[in-house]
Amino acid sequence: MDETSLRQALAGLPVPDFKYFPSAGSTNDIALEWAEKGADDGCLVLADTQTNGRGRTGRRWVTEPGAALAFSLALRPTPAEAQQTGLFSPLAALALTQVLAEQYQLEARIKWPNDVLVNRRKVCGILVEAAWEQDRLTAVVVGVGVNITPASVPPADAVRFPATCVEQTAGREINREHLLAQILHAFFDWRARLNTPEFVRAWEERLAFRGEWVRLEEEGQPTLTGQLIGIDPNGNLRLRTREGEERSVMVGDVHLRL
Ligand code: BTN
Repeated sequence: MDETSLRQALAGLPVPDFKYFPSAGSTNDIALEWAEKGADDGCLVLADTQTNGRGRTGRRWVTEPGAALAFSLALRPTPAEAQQTGLFSPLAALALTQVLAEQYQLEARIKWPNDVLVNRRKVCGILVEAAWEQDRLTAVVVGVGVNITPASVPPADAVRFPATCVEQTAGREINREHLLAQILHAFFDWRARLNTPEFVRAWEERLAFRGEWVRLEEEGQPTLTGQLIGIDPNGNLRLRTREGEERSVMVGDVHLRL
């Protein structure tokens, strides 16, 4: 991966500018800083390896050199998007699952709200962060980490959910620049339809564990167990409890009820 090949791969996308780093702390941090300094909508930060990659809920995200895709998009949300920033994670997840299904024949699924699974193992994590000026939302950064080669897969004892990578599941070599461009094309296509019934339907169709019994965990909240039914029009997860009651949940981590 280098600047020239990236420039070619990104041609035709609404990405006005990009920064590529062979090694960076966290692409999300760089994109947030760039957004504060005026980055236009769609500016992209990419790193071959991250020394301080961040995951959700303060976890570390490791990006080994040459093994993964690690990028962050700086976005300037429209007023309508600013009302529904919670949909940017599923937007990125939907883009990747669609590309993996259509281009690589992989049965990719979205583990609500935003991890991407193949064969029930995680291939991608997404971290969306916002920049504010007083109480005004000025930018949203969508950070995406995709495991590509086996070297990107963390050891089983280092992760909360089993992981895999695209090459292992697709059974062939993956060109990271091509995959990046495909994800971004799908991302911007779906962005134009954010929160349309079509968007929610596509997200729900790709939802992992539908019909299965799951545990929903959220720090400081009692664990909720239920059968995963789907997504409501607001993007909340719908569960049916053992008592037959339907519950909509806004936040939490889905685990298989074992
Ligand atoms: C998670 O599953 O916990 C989210 C992981 C998000 C990782 C990506 S890699 C690119 C971007 N830069 C970061 O520091 N984190 C995100």
